[in-house]
Amino acid sequence: MSEQIIKLDKLKQKRGKPKGRVVDPAAKTEILALLKDESRAPDLLIEHLHKIQDHYGHISAKHITALAAEMKLSQTEVYEVATFYHHFDVIKENQTPPPPLTVRVCESLTCEMAGAHGLVDALKKGLGDGVRVQPVPCVGRCDTAPIAVVGQNPIDHATAENVQQAVSTKAITAEVTNYVSYDAYKAGGGYQLYQECMSGKRTAEDLIKIMENSGLRGLGGAGFPVGRKWRIVSSQPSPRLMAVNIDEGEPGTFKDRYYLELDPHRFLEGMLIAAWAVGISKIWIYLRDEYAGCRKILTKEIFNLQKNRPAALPEIHLRRGAGAYICGEESAMIESIEGKRGMPRLRPPFVAQVGLFGRPTLEHNMESVYWVRDIVEKGAEWFTAHGRRERKGLRSFSVSGRVNKPGVHLAPAGISMRELIDEYCGGMQAGHEFYGYFPGGASGGILPASLGDVPMDFDTLNQYGCFIGSAAVVVFSQHDKARDLALNAMKFFEDESCGQCTPCRVGTAKAVKLMAQKTWDKPLLDELSVAMMDASICGLGQAAPNPLNCVIKYFADELK
Ligand SMILES: Cc1cc2nc3c(=O)[nH]c(=O)nc-3n(C[C@H](O)[C@H](O)[C@H](O)COP(=O)(O)O)c2cc1C
Ligand code: SF4
Ligand code: FES
Repeated sequence: MSEQIIKLDKLKQKRGKPKGRVVDPAAKTEILALLKDESRAPDLLIEHLHKIQDHYGHISAKHITALAAEMKLSQTEVYEVATFYHHFDVIKENQTPPPPLTVRVCESLTCEMAGAHGLVDALKKGLGDGVRVQPVPCVGRCDTAPIAVVGQNPIDHATAENVQQAVSTKAITAEVTNYVSYDAYKAGGGYQLYQECMSGKRTAEDLIKIMENSGLRGLGGAGFPVGRKWRIVSSQPSPRLMAVNIDEGEPGTFKDRYYLELDPHRFLEGMLIAAWAVGISKIWIYLRDEYAGCRKILTKEIFNLQKNRPAALPEIHLRRGAGAYICGEESAMIESIEGKRGMPRLRPPFVAQVGLFGRPTLEHNMESVYWVRDIVEKGAEWFTAHGRRERKGLRSFSVSGRVNKPGVHLAPAGISMRELIDEYCGGMQAGHEFYGYFPGGASGGILPASLGDVPMDFDTLNQYGCFIGSAAVVVFSQHDKARDLALNAMKFFEDESCGQCTPCRVGTAKAVKLMAQKTWDKPLLDELSVAMMDASICGLGQAAPNPLNCVIKYFADELK
């Protein structure tokens, strides 16, 4: 065997070179100008990527390299995070950046029913090469479908004409709604309850008892009792943290936006009271990127609150999502707040035990804390006095589709779909007969009109293979097909699957192919559903087959 001689000086030379791309000095200067003196902590990675995307309209490879060096992260990590989120356009050296303006057109359930596909085609033809037209999932404005978002400006009841008008007049920023200001909120008795808590007039135990007695259940979808969650988290070792979920990505849901655009301080006060009751000194609010108007409102109103504080405040951080539905799942949201890809964690441990930055975390949907002030001031009985058919409390239904008055309707828990349509939604639109409905967004399944009298609430729809989730109700008529809507939902799940588990990643893609066939292979779809429901890590993969199973069960005529 011949001996191999390794020359040491050559090895040394190799070691001296940094791995991967080297930092471009011009890109470094540009990154320094964007980041200024802001913290370089790794959890701010997504915030800093937004700065680059906002400024340059895309994120180039040289900016990724410079940002990684500046934040002392590996280039791989920055690249992985940047490419995970739909709202970041990562452009490698040999690629062409997108045009400076993007028009996003929602193609989810209600917008598809309102003609989104035709709108996409018309805009692609009409707007020309200087504008990118991008089909996207629900942007949380289903009551005014179809929706196009020009830059950050949402156009309700979008047409080729009004979108063209916004593009040509450069109307590309979100308008702010007329909401209850800080002064007006305080003048109406706002923040008195928080002051009572902070001054010792109330005890945390009293507050937790009131919330337990109210029976309020988490309004993000899972319906875990709010009071019980406060008790569990408050018994965990400190420091404890809080994370508020305003990701609101479930197609059909827009209630959180509605309340934020109306009365943001009612939410902020509820959040502060929850944090106080559970003994929390740091809060993170995670707001979906699509809600640019709400971002302006919250930024301004948190500033007003901090400038003129009604009592001592915890730290409040506002974080911006980046277009990934999965980040609404609580553990994925926590990963995202930590500056990582939004991939759900395996449980146990639950986020109440090991959550944000490894600490016990109180995680709530925005609307769950929005009701705290009313429930405490008016009493738990005020809340439980509402309800139909033995159910208790109020639910904010986001209603869209073929009804006369779509919108957020605050109605008693246990109300039936037929009652909701007749009493709150002004009936069905002319020429449309009630044929079916999604009771809980894309993932909550589909029910036929013949089951329009069942009570809608947590736990009541499970026996029908459905759930109420965030109470996003999409009503459809004889002019729509349940199988088309189920396919729309499955495509959404395929696009939004985070990809970490095979039953969900492969199952959603396979289901889309099978559901697009004229004749459905029911035994194969059934097998696929069982695998997805049984073996997926999180609720996305577990619930994805609900609409397809409902079509087979309740709309079999459409499959003939
Ligand atoms: C795929 C998926 C998406 C979710 N999206 C949201 C969301 O956008 N907003 C939300 O509040 N909860 C969402 N959830 C539910 C959260 O995981 C969690 O249960 C909820 O935020 C807890 O708050 P609550 O107890 O106040 O409802 C989602 C769950 C899953 C599985
Ligand atoms: S079920 Fe889907 S979304 Fe959830 S962790 Fe698995 S791959 Fe990701
Ligand atoms: S905004 Fe289009 S379906 Fe929700």
